[in-house]
This record gives sequence, C-alpha cells and structure tokens, in this order.
Amino acid sequence: MNIFKQNPSFVALAAATLAVGFAAVCVEETFSARPLSAATAYEDSLAKLKAKYVRPDAPAFPETNPYSEAKAKLGKDLFFDPRLSSTGSVSCASCHNPAFRWSDGLAKGRGVTGQELPRRSPSIVNSAWLTTLMWDGRADTLEQQAALPMTAEHEMGMTPDAIVERVKSISGYRPLFESAFPAKDIDFASITAAIATYERTLISNEAPFDHWIAGNEGAITAEAKRGFALFNGAAGCSKCHGGWRFTDDSFHDIGLKSADIGRGQFAPPSVVGMQHAFKTPSLRDLNIHGPYMHDGSMTSLVDVIRHYENGGEKRPSLSTDMKQFTLTQQERTELEAFVKTLSASPLTTELPVLP
Ligand code: HEC
Ligand code: HEC
Repeated sequence: MNIFKQNPSFVALAAATLAVGFAAVCVEETFSARPLSAATAYEDSLAKLKAKYVRPDAPAFPETNPYSEAKAKLGKDLFFDPRLSSTGSVSCASCHNPAFRWSDGLAKGRGVTGQELPRRSPSIVNSAWLTTLMWDGRADTLEQQAALPMTAEHEMGMTPDAIVERVKSISGYRPLFESAFPAKDIDFASITAAIATYERTLISNEAPFDHWIAGNEGAITAEAKRGFALFNGAAGCSKCHGGWRFTDDSFHDIGLKSADIGRGQFAPPSVVGMQHAFKTPSLRDLNIHGPYMHDGSMTSLVDVIRHYENGGEKRPSLSTDMKQFTLTQQERTELEAFVKTLSASPLTTELPVLP
C-alpha cells in the first residue's frame, strides 16, 4: 500500500481540472467534494503512520534491577575503566566510544589480543529498550550481556573472579559499591547490574525527525518527507525497520555475502529463515560513514540502499521481504535524506574521574 503515491496525483487532478477551464461552480465542487476529502484521507493516513514513530517518554528499568543514581554512577565508572580487562587497556568504552556514537568506527572491533573480532561493534544507545541482544540474539538482558565481553578472550580477557578481585583491589570503588548496593559484598552480579543501569541511561537526543513527528513541519525538508514515504512504501524498509527505534527487534537474512550464519547458530538447519539472519539494527544516530552491517561491509547509505534494490544473495534463507526494486537517483537521495533525519546531536558525556 502506498498512500503517498496518491497525493501528487490528486494535486495533478486538481490542476488538470483547473486547466481545462471548468465552470467556477464545477471547480468549487471538485475542490470541496473530491480532492478535499481525499486530502483529508491522506492527512489521516499520514497521521496514523506518524503515530507509529512517536518516541516513548522514559526507559523501562526492570524490577530486578531498579534505577538508582548511585548505581548509574558506579556503572559509568566501570564502563569506562580499562582495569576491568586483562591488559588494563580495554574498557567497554573502547568499543562503545561516545566519540563514535557509542560504537568504534571500525568494520570489526579489536580487544585485548588485538585480534579482529568476528563482528562489528553496535551502538549501545537506547539499549534500555532491547529485548534481544547481540547481532545473533544470544543475550536476553543487559545484565547478562555485560558478562560476555568481560570474559571473552579477545575482548577484555578476564574471568568473573579475576574482575571481582581487581575491583576489590581498587579501594576507591568500595564506597561507591556501598552506596549502590548497601550491605552487600562486591560481587560479579553487582558489577554487571551497575553497568546495565548506566547503559539504560544512554538515550538518543531528539532528532529532526522527532520534531517533525511532534508537529514541526519545518524540522525536515520536503525531500526527506518524500524519503519517509518511500521508506514506508515502495522501498519497503519499514517492514523491518518500523517503530520509533526503527527496528522490529527481530532477525532476518538480508542477503549479505558474509559466511557468518548469525542467528542460525541457535536454530536447527530446518529453520531456514534463521540461517544468515541477524538482528535488525536501529537506524537512529548512525555514524555518517558507517561502517554498517554486522560485518562492517558497507560504508555509505547509498551502498546500503543499492544493496536493498538488488535484493541480496538469492538463497533459501533470504527474507521474503527482500524484493528487488529500482529507485530513481532522486528517490535514492530522498531516502538517504530521510535516514539522516534520524540522527540527533551526538549523545556526549563527561569522562569519569576513575576511583
Ligand atoms: C573489543 C570490543 C568490545 C568491547 C571491549 C566491548 N564490546 Fe560490546 N560489543 C562488541 C561487539 C563486536 C558486539 C557485537 C557482538 C555480536 O553480536 O556477536 C557488542 C555488543 C554489545 C551489546 C549489544 C548491543 C545490541 O544491539 O545487541 C552491548 C549492550 C554491549 N556490547 C555492551 C558492552 C559492555 C557493557 C562492555 C563492557 C563490559 C562491552 N560491550 C565491551 C564489541 C565490544
Ligand atoms: C527484511 C528486513 C529488512 C528490510 C526490508 C530492510 N532492512 Fe535494513 N537491515 C535489516 C537487517 C537484519 C540488518 C542487519 C543485517 C546484517 O548486518 O546482517 C539491516 C541493516 C541496515 C542498515 C545498517 C545499520 C547498521 O547499524 O549497520 C541500514 C542503514 C539499513 N538496514 C537501512 C535499510 C533501508 C534504507 C531499507 C529499505 C530500503 C532497509 N534497511 C530494509 C533488515 C531489513
């Protein structure tokens, strides 16, 4: 369905009606009866569509790990502390760096051993809303996820016990843990809980797109508005990148050449659609030059758009929502302009003075 395509034709109809010089009364009829109600229908559908993209107010903190300022502050220190790694040189922020929109600007990240990781470091902004984590969904919560890089050989290279010992050996951490977790000894669960709490406070700033959704017509260009129509219409992007974070939090094979089978590692081969499937990433706050995709294989939005036009590698697992289509050069520019309206001013933070 493409409600947007209709609108210009109604305008054209109205113009044509005028051009053939209908009697004034007839023109009035035309405008008051047909095009106006059509225009109203168009506005209605647009309003309904826009309603799907409204930002929610606040992130959800789980009952099992409620927010406290002390916990978030402690979590921030731990997130930026390279002493949590075997070499003392890699922190979470090495790969989720605020200067690179909370990623690292690399096609594939590198940790304590310097070895290239199998996949690109995603941004962690808006991770409070994640229902499935990692490109292949192998973690369910931020608490659970935080343990993975700390204990991965090529990321931070530690064990839970070694991390607890290291943190305990830094006397400045003791009072911070006492206020965040009163009457509790420092343990690994508290460390991951604090980091997760800090991550939940990282929320993207309002983008030009949000201002448009909120009713400011001038917030984005006419070109970007046409791009929004394409995104929800002919280009089919919203089938997977729907909602205010521009993701369905689900897994799809979009036909990249990568040999990585992603979600397929956790599904039997008979579940064909999960082979080569990766989690749909959010499109907010993208780094302008990428790299994009789980393998960091694309560095421009135009490359990404052309990939979708080509429809991806034809294989049994390819998503049925991947269909070949052709955009004009102008439409490509419009779609790109729209995606750029999802980028807000960068979410910055003051680096903590570590305990
Ligand atoms: C050496 C680089 C590196 C370090 C260090 C690192 N990460 Fe990551 N992070 C990655 C990569 C790569 C992925 C994606 C891995 C995958 O999907 O297989 C990832 C994924 C994530 C995700 C999932 C995001 C999503 O959209 O699903 C979160 C959250 C995260 N990291 C938080 C952290 C935290 C917290 C730390 C510190 C405890 C940390 N990372 C340390 C590279 C790193
Ligand atoms: C079938 C579902 C689906 C459709 C349709 C779809 N995408 Fe995606 N998109 C994904 C998935 C899944 C990924 C990650 C793929 C990977 O890395 O293996 C992705 C990745 C991206 C990325 C890279 C983001 C990043 O952080 O790496 C961009 C940009 C993007 N898509 C834009 C679009 C646009 C624009 C359209 C419409 C032309 C579109 N997508 C259509 C599912 C989809």
